[in-house]
Amino acid sequence: MGSPLGPMLDVARQALANAHAPYSRFRVGACLRATSGRLYGGCNVENSAYPVGQCAEATAIGAMVVAGDREIVEVVVLTEGSEICAPCGRCRQQLGEFARPAVPVHLAGPEGLRVTTTLGELLPLAFGRETLGPRRPDGAAGA
Ligand code: THU
Repeated sequence: MGSPLGPMLDVARQALANAHAPYSRFRVGACLRATSGRLYGGCNVENSAYPVGQCAEATAIGAMVVAGDREIVEVVVLTEGSEICAPCGRCRQQLGEFARPAVPVHLAGPEGLRVTTTLGELLPLAFGRETLGPRRPDGAAGA
């Protein structure tokens, strides 16, 4: 199956519209495509205690895990300003738990796609489960 970028952008736009970002006023929408083909949206969810806020990517990852998917094959991050908004460092690590380095990460605005990169480009020399050596979990769902 080809990349359904149009539907992914739609999911990310809808998610952005529901963002809870009254403090930064910087709304972000994300969409993940999983191996099942399902799309998962997420928005940023800020908090009056600022550090407690959650990024859009993390919200989408939570929705994916709840639904039982465990492998991301494509990512969209969509913002409203004119700047290119790449995932923050924490989100790169969180995506890396469920996505291989070759996974495309599309950075988009309201008008559509702006830049496509990969998780490996965003997170080189990543700390991953293989770094843990023999302590690593088997990665089975529910582990
Ligand atoms: N934000 C995201 O949702 N994803 C990112 O990768 C970068 C930043 C959010 C967090 C916060 O609600 C707002 O953008 C400003 O930092």
